[in-house]
Amino acid sequence: MLPERTDMPAERVDMGGYTLIENASLANRNTLRVAARAKLLAEIRDATKLPELLDFPAVRNGRLLVLGEGSNMLFTGDFDGTVLAMETRGVHAEALATSGVQVESDGDSARIAIAAGERWDDFVRWTLGQGYAGLENLILIPGTVGAAPIQNIGAYGCEVAEFIESVEAWDIRERRVVTLDHATCAFGYRDSLFKHEPGRYIVTAVRFVLPRSRPLRTDYAGINEQLARMGVDKPAPFHVAEAVVHLRTSKLPDPMVIGNAGSFFKNPIIDAALADALKREHPGLAVWPQPDGRCKISAAWMIEAAGFKGVREGDAGISNRHALVLVNHGKASGPELWALAQRVIAGVEAKFGVRLEPEPVVIGAV
Ligand code: EPU
Repeated sequence: MLPERTDMPAERVDMGGYTLIENASLANRNTLRVAARAKLLAEIRDATKLPELLDFPAVRNGRLLVLGEGSNMLFTGDFDGTVLAMETRGVHAEALATSGVQVESDGDSARIAIAAGERWDDFVRWTLGQGYAGLENLILIPGTVGAAPIQNIGAYGCEVAEFIESVEAWDIRERRVVTLDHATCAFGYRDSLFKHEPGRYIVTAVRFVLPRSRPLRTDYAGINEQLARMGVDKPAPFHVAEAVVHLRTSKLPDPMVIGNAGSFFKNPIIDAALADALKREHPGLAVWPQPDGRCKISAAWMIEAAGFKGVREGDAGISNRHALVLVNHGKASGPELWALAQRVIAGVEAKFGVRLEPEPVVIGAV
């Protein structure tokens, strides 16, 4: 099955529940809009077909990469294996009389199971439309529901983990469906079990517990100020969502307009003593104390201070709107974007002695 061919148009075969495409272009499947190809692409509409697909020798014996919307990925070359594009759909909501385990709620809540292939932002808007709170700060984040727990997406003082009861996945090692509860998922800042055991799990669905109401989080990064500008003094979750939409669209470049993968660098978490020393030397540096006593420091501030905000080398650049965002102005290749990212990492390390880590998955980097 599927000999390697690079000189012919992609061939599609509908297998019932999934479609196979050989030598498939991934250019429209990553938001950095990098040209790359997959030896085999499987578009999966029915997750129960995964075991059948994974049993083909060409799939079983080769490399695997699970792709949602490709909004958190940089391809530095072609992928010599099978890309699984999760395109499963569907939501199942079950009302709960009392609040769930991880949420503080003064009303009823719901347990909502949703297929991995749904778009995250569509899901957030659906929950708000149904009258559930919790995900309002996380509106407009690109990507799929299945990708959300993997990097524990977060914005404006909230992380998705807070509302995840469990994650359903296909365990490639054990060859069975598993339900991983909140504790097993080992969530951290842009981190989870799935990042520590790469290649083991294929997330097929996520189970959330969302309350009807909760104390809203509006004290972060300009939300209160935006609510005041909107003339809202008693905000509901949809007001907070509207404020976040305004802040995100004014600060972050839209991947539909200019290729990017959101924050390309994580905010480093460092020892408090080192953070204090850096803050003394650089009073403008934003420092956020963490529950474990360490400190998260602003990568965007350091990148800007190191002179990289708005730089452009060919079509690879650092956004002039937000210094964390690597952008593709047009035809930048994966290696060109990665080379610029590495220059940023080296420049920040030379000036601050802190090594930045990329936030997206970098495919093919050595
Ligand atoms: N800042 C700069 N220069 C810039 C941008 C920001 O100096 O170009 C400074 C700001 O003045 C502020 C600090 O950096 O003091 C923090 O900025 P911001 O509030 O924009 O947040 P961030 O820490 O840079 C994080 C997330 C974003 C999320 C925002 C808003 C990470 C890696 N990024 O950025 O998430 O939208 O908070 O909550 O944690 C993403 O993960 O893709 C993403 C966009």
